[in-house]
Amino acid sequence: MNETIQLLHNHRSIRKFSKEQLSKEMVRTIVEAGQRASTSSNVMAYSIIGITDINIKKQLQKISGQPYVEHNGYLFVICADLSRIEGLASAEEKESMKINLESTEQFIVATVDAALVTQNMVIAAESIDLGACFLGSIRNDINQVDELLELPQYVIPLYGLAVGYPDHQPEVKPRLPFEAVFHENTYDNSQKQQYIEAYDEALNHYYQERSTNNKLDNWTNQMLRKYHVPTRMDVASYVQTKHFNKH
Ligand SMILES: Cc1cc2nc3c(=O)[nH]c(=O)nc-3n(C[C@H](O)[C@H](O)[C@H](O)COP(=O)(O)O)c2cc1C
Repeated sequence: MNETIQLLHNHRSIRKFSKEQLSKEMVRTIVEAGQRASTSSNVMAYSIIGITDINIKKQLQKISGQPYVEHNGYLFVICADLSRIEGLASAEEKESMKINLESTEQFIVATVDAALVTQNMVIAAESIDLGACFLGSIRNDINQVDELLELPQYVIPLYGLAVGYPDHQPEVKPRLPFEAVFHENTYDNSQKQQYIEAYDEALNHYYQERSTNNKLDNWTNQMLRKYHVPTRMDVASYVQTKHFNKH
């Protein structure tokens, strides 16, 4: 394994940070490293909002219900953004571009672009001994986040990213085995159950052995519980009112 692969294998989400704040230079370094990610047709359909206003941070914390949204070294909100592209066009051109801008295809482009930039940011942060945690929890009230951040049409918040100096060292969480997620040539799920069962055991072992928050649980049960409960059903209509994913 080289250093890069080792760094990737060493990832764990960090949810407890020291009080030390990131410098402006560090924020820039992380974002610019993020931006080196591949981007669909060079569209760069994302925007990154740095939250330095403590009142906004507190409100985002309230929406998410997670203390590390407020207590971190720096908080980003990552948005899918097609407004930059729309802004290039004249009023007449805007009308004819609408069909593309509002397509499911461009919704995928923007959300994938945003995810790639963010994952690069996480790797950059981890490479300089910082930790990070994605925060989908800000979508608990996506309309309120939209208002809070004054997002225009064609811009939607996807998640937050808390970054900072780790104040705990959680164990690395196991992933599904290679055999469970990898297919050759065509999709074939027929032999996968044994690997899911192996993962259930590995994850249960991880939960029992880790240094905090021990519990008896496994992946199958977690997923069945999770997908049983309708969650954030307001996101679909919100996204459409912002002109994403309409056809
Ligand atoms: C898009 C996305 C949203 C997430 N949202 C949250 C969140 O709101 N709160 C949280 O504590 N962790 C969140 N996570 C972190 C995952 O729970 C975590 O990555 C997963 O359990 C695997 O653990 P690990 O990152 O420590 O390996 C999110 C991760 C992703 C990719």
